[in-house]
Amino acid sequence: MTERLILDCDPGHDDALAMILAAGDPRVELLAVTTCAGNQTLPKVTRNALAVCAVAGIDVPVAAGSVGPLVRPQMVAPEIHGESGLDGPVLPEATLELDPRHAVDLIIDVVLAAEPGTVTLVPTGPLTNIALAMRKEPAIVERVKRVVLMGGSYTRGNKTPTAEFNIAADPEAAQAVFSAPWPVTMVGLDLTHQATADTDVVDRIKAIGSPLSSFVVDVLEFFGSTYREQQGFDAPPVHDLCCVAWLGDPEVFTTREAFVAVELTGTWTNGMTVTDFSGLLGQPVNTDVAITLDKQRLWDMTVDAIAALSAQPEVAAR
Ligand code: RIB
Ligand code: CA
Repeated sequence: MTERLILDCDPGHDDALAMILAAGDPRVELLAVTTCAGNQTLPKVTRNALAVCAVAGIDVPVAAGSVGPLVRPQMVAPEIHGESGLDGPVLPEATLELDPRHAVDLIIDVVLAAEPGTVTLVPTGPLTNIALAMRKEPAIVERVKRVVLMGGSYTRGNKTPTAEFNIAADPEAAQAVFSAPWPVTMVGLDLTHQATADTDVVDRIKAIGSPLSSFVVDVLEFFGSTYREQQGFDAPPVHDLCCVAWLGDPEVFTTREAFVAVELTGTWTNGMTVTDFSGLLGQPVNTDVAITLDKQRLWDMTVDAIAALSAQPEVAAR
């Protein structure tokens, strides 16, 4: 069965790969793209999302959302994603007009228009839009099939020693999402740090030899340079891609049930996803936590998706 998803994102190099996989894998159907401030400001990530749509031939509603977090001061990540939020490749002009709705309204409209239990929300940035949508229209909580979010960690963070960027950027929004009664899959750093785009992967993508594959190579090469300089990685972990990959192939990673809560009042630990696999806190399980990645499956499906999109006339002609 085709998995139908809304991608709520902050492109972002890894968000861009998630968009492309969502458009190119035949087992998933991308219903809409919504943007939120995160890696960069809202105008920048929205422009980037439209640019990825242009280069990949994606034609779905795209709506801009939250300009910043619910409570905390805004944080961006130019040290990883550059001043534009998608430094590296030449970004084409948009070919789509932005949807006039706010992202929150687009999410609500798409979920309410679909049969209950048929739409998965895939947030790959701060969870501000998702939290606002569930507060504006609580009915979406029981209608959404699952929330598969890139964020958190059950070991160490990347924004602070204990907090991952997407959660740290808006911890109040994240806590609202984890504590709501819908199925949640947490695709955190423990999983996504396994999803590195190693040289052999970049070479496979380069060998496709299309304008889209060249764009993806440029994305990965810039992402690789900043991850090498800033975090000492030999190859960049393409975090957000893992969420979409799981919808296309649930065997791409394993999960384990846990109780997850977001620290909001810590002195040093705000934004930490406190993950209890053993019931130590006496709280009910609320999250499926991603544990082990099948890296070969991830990159096989991603290379296939890029090749499939590259073969489409409107993409090949760019
Ligand atoms: O911590 C990694 C996450 O933060 C990824 O989603 C990346 O795109 C940034 O949003
Ligand atoms: Ca992201």
